[in-house]
Amino acid sequence: MSTQVKPSDANRVIIFDTTLRDGEQSPGCSMNLQEKIQVARALEEMGVDVIEAGFPIASRGDFEAVREVANTVKNSQVAGLARATNKDIDRAWEALQNAAQPRIHSFISTSPLHMKFKLQMEPEAVHQAIIDSVSYARNLCGNVEWSPEDGTRTEPDFLARCVESAIKAGAGTINIPDTVGYTVPEEFAELISMLMNRVPNIDKAVISVHCHNDLGLAVANSLAAVKAGARQIECTINGIGERAGNCALEEVVMAMRTRNDFMPYETGVDSTQIMRTSRLVSAITGFSVQPNKAIVGANAFAHESGIHQDGVLKNAQTYEIMTPESVGLTRSNLVMGKHSGRHAFKSKLKELGFELGDNEFQDAFQRFKELADHKKDVYDEDIIALVDDAVVRHNDVVRFVSLQVVCGSTGPQTAELVLNVQGDEQTAKAEGNGPVDATFEAIRKIMPHDAVLQLYQVHAVTGGTDAQAQVTVRLEEDGKTVNGQGADHDTLVASARAYVNALNKLLVKRERGEPAAMTA
Ligand code: KIV
Ligand code: ZN
Repeated sequence: MSTQVKPSDANRVIIFDTTLRDGEQSPGCSMNLQEKIQVARALEEMGVDVIEAGFPIASRGDFEAVREVANTVKNSQVAGLARATNKDIDRAWEALQNAAQPRIHSFISTSPLHMKFKLQMEPEAVHQAIIDSVSYARNLCGNVEWSPEDGTRTEPDFLARCVESAIKAGAGTINIPDTVGYTVPEEFAELISMLMNRVPNIDKAVISVHCHNDLGLAVANSLAAVKAGARQIECTINGIGERAGNCALEEVVMAMRTRNDFMPYETGVDSTQIMRTSRLVSAITGFSVQPNKAIVGANAFAHESGIHQDGVLKNAQTYEIMTPESVGLTRSNLVMGKHSGRHAFKSKLKELGFELGDNEFQDAFQRFKELADHKKDVYDEDIIALVDDAVVRHNDVVRFVSLQVVCGSTGPQTAELVLNVQGDEQTAKAEGNGPVDATFEAIRKIMPHDAVLQLYQVHAVTGGTDAQAQVTVRLEEDGKTVNGQGADHDTLVASARAYVNALNKLLVKRERGEPAAMTA
């Protein structure tokens, strides 16, 4: 697949995915190197044009992630983010050395508010920094993108002047960010039209947009900008990102595909890979997708009311504007239970949009068998939860082994826990104020730490008293937060798994040691 969009492709919209950079800036989110590579591979396979792999100067972990993604990915461009300094740009370029199609993405704030308070620079100095940084980057790399941070709150004359200078200095892509999710579709379309009409050399660059979702308008704003002439959309899987997140890739892609009559634009994305990639990102980040989320939510293709079900049975188009198959789901009535074998389980995974490696499949199948021994009917939600759990845990260095808990009204409540710490099995016994407290105390005995438990949440995956529990644990240490997930038919085991998963993520964050001020 070609990622170099030709000028003749007037209606081709470039999909720039920033799940690994802006998406990873979501509070509580962290991905280790292997997980980032897994996501990058899925994005490449899905046909994403540009993968923004990280912010190389931010930390050693970010640098390594960009370098390894650049080493791995061949069919998508790989971008590294840099502020408008030679040091940042050099570091980004170093990380991108082995990329088949590298891109340096440099940015600086241009709004009065950001220039005065964040940068403490005069507009003329910012303008000069744009020329210097873009020229410097362009001398290293033929493919340079430039972004005026807080673009939508930038004074329009100044924005047009900066864009013109950035193009003159060699930027081939000009990205207009709505950094704080402030704009609305009509206003944003006018801003893009203004740049298309006023900037004399605008035809030398692709206009891109990067919308945040603070008002829930990121997708609408991006689509309005495309109608006005933008031809690159920056987005993330499941819309993850800073605060309320970024424009959701699956939503913009399916909107342009489903309403191609009104928005006659094409992307290179194979939409049948959407579900699988969404599930991978959700499992790895621990951010579950809300059931009513457009395109990838568990209910996005579910019909509850009798009237709707009757309509869909007669003709699916009565209540479905796109087919489940178009996003990678398949309809079947395959019911899973303890007699289901390996082959049926594999078919079910495929139907649900999962594609697992051999080891992950093995783990998931074993967990499925254990679950089926306890639960007569294993629903799709059960399988999603247990596969997510297997994916989440794949790279953990500390692993749950077993747990015995004594609880009830006549305490003390005690927990005896075994963890595998880098191959070494360690046991701890603890008392607590209730079984969960005792379990977490036992974990703290094996893995002493000062992280504070910020959130402990239990959710039943399905109805019934034999339902699996899905637990989320959020830990905070030195301003860094991580979310851990665990699923099991035993709520306490799920709790222990979630806590241990959060600790594993904390270990990754500690190792990366990124300074908070580096986020863009
Ligand atoms: O939101 C933003 O402004 C950004 C830029 C670095 C593109 O993420
Ligand atoms: Zn952003």
